[in-house]
Formats: sequence, structure tokens, C-alpha cells
Amino acid sequence: MNYARIAGTGSYLPEKILTNADLEQLIDTTADWIVERTGVEERHIAAPDETTCDLAERASRRALDAAGLDPGDIDLIILGTTTPDHIFPSVATQLQHRLGCYGGPAFDVQAVCTGFVYAMDIANRFIRTQAAKRALVVGADTFTRIINWKDRGTCILFGDGAGAVVLEAAEEPGIIDSRLGADGRYKELLWVPAGVSSGYEQTRQDAAFVEMRGSEVFKVAVTTLKEIAEQILIANRMTVADVDWVIPHQANRRILAATAKRLGLPEERMVDCVRTHGNTSAASVPLALDVAVRDGRIQRGDTLLLEGFGGGFTWGAVLAKY
Ligand code: UT7
Repeated sequence: MNYARIAGTGSYLPEKILTNADLEQLIDTTADWIVERTGVEERHIAAPDETTCDLAERASRRALDAAGLDPGDIDLIILGTTTPDHIFPSVATQLQHRLGCYGGPAFDVQAVCTGFVYAMDIANRFIRTQAAKRALVVGADTFTRIINWKDRGTCILFGDGAGAVVLEAAEEPGIIDSRLGADGRYKELLWVPAGVSSGYEQTRQDAAFVEMRGSEVFKVAVTTLKEIAEQILIANRMTVADVDWVIPHQANRRILAATAKRLGLPEERMVDCVRTHGNTSAASVPLALDVAVRDGRIQRGDTLLLEGFGGGFTWGAVLAKY
């Protein structure tokens, strides 16, 4: 029982939808520009009283149902988020409380849009070393709460949501390999300047919101997503032809298309939810995974490559048999 397999997936998107036509009323943009440059047509926005933990709970309950498990079966919770309900305690501990499965470790991981992939890598290591048997791994963000709605370069891209996976110990993979990376030199290409320790009382009023140098992020994202896919495949003596589905971070349709092209991967084998989800940060990969599992594209036995990329920069890949 030394591997971790995906026992079930779940996701949740808030009810409210913000369309490109709505954005035309808010900022100087056009629906055509947004679709052409990003592929996003609509995104979901959490209700004012709906928090990251609320989204995470709904996605987690669906993942548990899909796995045929009860919350009490879970002995580890790891949750990727950049938009926790509180500075502390972590969302993971509050999710544990809501599910009523006390005692096992529960913690958040902060790797921005790579948060879920980081959480999967860590949970896999817990299970492989027999420190846990059944892990709930979640990516959840209310990222639109840290968006400057006057900044047309960022507010068009992001949405809210949550995705979850139940990993359980198994005799065969499951997760074949996972790899993480980071390069802190890129901090200011994508960040929120304000913070707990550096202070909220910044000179600029908008310092508590996401700032991004979009075209520079774009270039690093495409290069990195290609490189991490190649590295993990080479290390496991596999090629793109051995992968049934690539589930990348849903940053931008053009990033996905450029990555597929560079990898020599037919675009039909890349799960793309950009049109209806936008970029949901840590939720983007598990949301896309759950969509493709539930619509029947991903079948048991398929080989999956999950890829994350986000602020920091951070990145990571998980290679798995579903
Ligand atoms: O998880 C990772 C998160 N981040 C990303 O993945 C972001 C990656 N980057 C991107 O998705 C793209 O860079 C953007 C969609 C953000 C921007 O697209 P772009 O093709 O890189 O455009 P740009 O930033 O080079 O801007 C081109 C023009 C500029 O006008 P000028 O200077 O040429 O006159 C912008 O001011 O487009 C203008 N522009 C807009 N026009 C209409 C920027 N945002 C908008 C907008 N509507 N919403």
C-alpha cells in the first residue's frame, strides 16, 4: 500500500456569473478583446457572505461522495489557497471542523496558482511514507476579493471556485511522480504588495490588490509549463504520446494553446475550462480535473499530467494514472 491513488474528485463554482458584457460596463474594454486575448467569456464570483472555506466544503463533500467515503475516513487535509478566510487559523482546520473529522493534520499551502499541485505533492509523500491513508487535497480561492476592479489588465482574468481530490493508499500507482519548483526572483511580476508583516498601511491605496505584468508573466508561464511537462515525462521514460490528458493551470487560452503546441500535444487532449471558469488560482487544476472526470472524458486507467504555475513564481507537475 505504498502509492496514492485518486479515489474521487469534486468541485464547486459560486452561483453568480460575471460576463464579459458585465465587464464592459465596469471598465474600458470590449468582450471581443477579452475573448481574443484570454479566451475567458465568463467567471463565477463568490457571494458577499461566501468564503473560501464555504467553497472548499462544497467541493470536498462532492469529492468524498465520489470516493464513496465519509469525512471520518480522512486522516489528512491539505488545502492550497491565497485567499484564506482569516490570517489564522488555516482554512484547512476550519474545513476539518465543518466536516467533523478531527485529529489528523490539517494545513494550508501558499503557492498561489500552484497551491493545489503543491498540496498534491505533499499529500502523496504523506501517503507513500504511510503517515496518512486517506487525504483530502483541496484548491480553493475567492481570488476576486483581491482584484482591483479598476485594473483592466487583471480583473478580466480571474474568478472564484474550489476543487478537491480524495487520495487514498493503494498497491499500485496512482500518482507516478510529482515535482515542484520555485524562483523568488520573479516576485514583482505577479504579487500583492501589502501584507501582514510588511504592513497594510502602504502609500498606495491599491496595494492590497493583485498587480501583474501580464505579458512578462505570459512568457515565463508558457516556457515553464512546457519544461516541467518534459522534465517529469523524461524522468519517467515517457513521452507526450503516453499521456491521455494534460490538465494545466487555467491561466489563459493562449497560454494553453502555446504550451500544447510546444509540447506537440493535440489541443483536444488538454482540458480547457478557461472559457467558463477564468483563472481561479489554486482551484483551477482540480476544477478542470473534476469537470473532465464528470463529463466522461477522463476514464479509469487514463494517464494524467497535472500542471501548475503561479506567483512567486512557483510551479509543479503531477503525473498519475487515474
Ligand atoms: O496564474 C498566472 C496568472 N497570470 C497570467 O496567466 C497572466 C498571463 N498574461 C496574460 O494573460 C496577458 O498578458 C493579458 C491577458 C493579461 C494581457 O494580454 P496581452 O496580449 O499580454 O496584452 P498587453 O498587456 O501587452 O497589452 C496590450 C494592450 C495595451 O494597450 P497599449 O499599451 O498597446 O495601448 C493594454 O493597455 O491592451 C491593453 N489592454 C486592454 N485593452 C482592452 C490591457 N487590458 C485590456 C483590456 N481591454 N481588458
